[in-house]
Amino acid sequence: MKSSITLDKYAPVGQIDERIYGSFIEHLGRAVYTGIYQPGHPSADENGFRQDVIDLINQLNVPIIRYPGGNFVSGFNWEDSIGPKDARPRRLNLAWQTIETNQFGLHEFMQWLDKVHAAPMMAVNLGTRGIDAARNLIEYTNFPKGSYYSDLRRQNGAEAPFNIKTWCLGNEMDGPWQIGHKDAVAYGKLADETAHAMRTVDDTIETVACGSSALTMPTFGSWESTVLDIAYDRVDYLSLHRYYGNQDNDTPNFLAQSLDLDDFISGVAICDSIKARKHSKKTINLSLDEWNVWYHSNDHDAQDAKWQEHPHKLEDIYNFEDALLVGSMLITMLHHADRLKMACLAQLVNVIAPIMTDENGGAWAQSIFYPFMQVSTLGKGTVLTPIVKSGTYGTKEFAAVPYVDSVAVLNDAGDTVTVFAVSKSLDTPQEFTIAAGDFQFDQVTLSSQFAGYGLKETNEDGHMRLADNTSYYLADNGVHVTLAPASWNVFQIKVQ
Ligand code: AHR
Repeated sequence: MKSSITLDKYAPVGQIDERIYGSFIEHLGRAVYTGIYQPGHPSADENGFRQDVIDLINQLNVPIIRYPGGNFVSGFNWEDSIGPKDARPRRLNLAWQTIETNQFGLHEFMQWLDKVHAAPMMAVNLGTRGIDAARNLIEYTNFPKGSYYSDLRRQNGAEAPFNIKTWCLGNEMDGPWQIGHKDAVAYGKLADETAHAMRTVDDTIETVACGSSALTMPTFGSWESTVLDIAYDRVDYLSLHRYYGNQDNDTPNFLAQSLDLDDFISGVAICDSIKARKHSKKTINLSLDEWNVWYHSNDHDAQDAKWQEHPHKLEDIYNFEDALLVGSMLITMLHHADRLKMACLAQLVNVIAPIMTDENGGAWAQSIFYPFMQVSTLGKGTVLTPIVKSGTYGTKEFAAVPYVDSVAVLNDAGDTVTVFAVSKSLDTPQEFTIAAGDFQFDQVTLSSQFAGYGLKETNEDGHMRLADNTSYYLADNGVHVTLAPASWNVFQIKVQ
């Protein structure tokens, strides 16, 4: 089978905002405790931060991390997580029905972020709390000094303000499962008023309003429309969340879910319809601040005992086909680089995560680690308009699924093109051509593949590797290469 991508030099999609390579740490399961924070672990520093986990995170090159939830935030009192650790309360984590000890909190998170070279994306509680707690929190984090909360921060050891720039106005407030769930009018008003109060404390912040928790939510569309109608002027981004699973063991259909993600992101049109109706000059962009595969752990979690401290929860062990879908989702996100400005792989450690810690004190990379690492490290610059030709297949949900998904990125120096490609053809190799268009190809500097594994193969023993794909050759100002069946592929080409 043949497929191709032709590079279009003159009409780029847009500049990549590297914050689309963000991730997420929630007080959920073992993400924090025994994940990133484990005093007494052999690799832990004086703060209890695990260096082995930090080393893996640094390979992922994650620029922004959402915190502290997720559903958790909708029942969280931020004040519980500051001050002397022995005075912090044990609380019920209502979202996940566990015990939260608050031994890792706001200051610890900010210190830990320095080690992983990431910025915070902080969520405020608009479930059980609201404007008052949010304005106090931002006074604590961002006001320099001379007020109650800013001086409390200084007393707690942080003389300089944290200057947190990006704020989520609640989490999944459209979802009936959310503590303090609201209808669109109630949420729109609360988000608007909260953003107003927070911006009064610090007018340099940017805010993210909750959009739909999934494309399948019955209120998708009307929710966005109502919320933005009310809060448009005080909101900068609309949040989207999307998870996929292969519960039916239908791999062709599972791998096709990137088309669903494409539809979901294309819903940005709703933001623009409100903009037009309001005669506004302001554009609202998108934050896909939760996305991943999530289904392997569902049965285990349904039987878990309640009210434990950091139990094993949402510990999906990812297989090779999950990595292919993650790669395809990343390609889809890049196709929308013009409007998708932030995204968070949910989550980062132990909870539906690319990085796991185990019972023996080790840390390891899941299959999905590899495509994410390559895109976050190499996908920098401008996305070129993807002119992709590929045969298609049909599934129970999708009529025409391209066998090959691909995207090309031109670096800022203008001398290197990086092409990412997933082959969803499960049995047959693809003869893939990267056609230079109006570029001149000099040489291929990287030709790598993640291939040859069983679709259900997992990586607990760390055997999975990226490998060289030596099948390429340059001819007729194009790179010609064989993509292995079911593969993730990355090429870098020097161009003029
Ligand atoms: O990431 C796990 C959960 O998924 C988050 O807490 C919630 O926002 C979403 O439903």
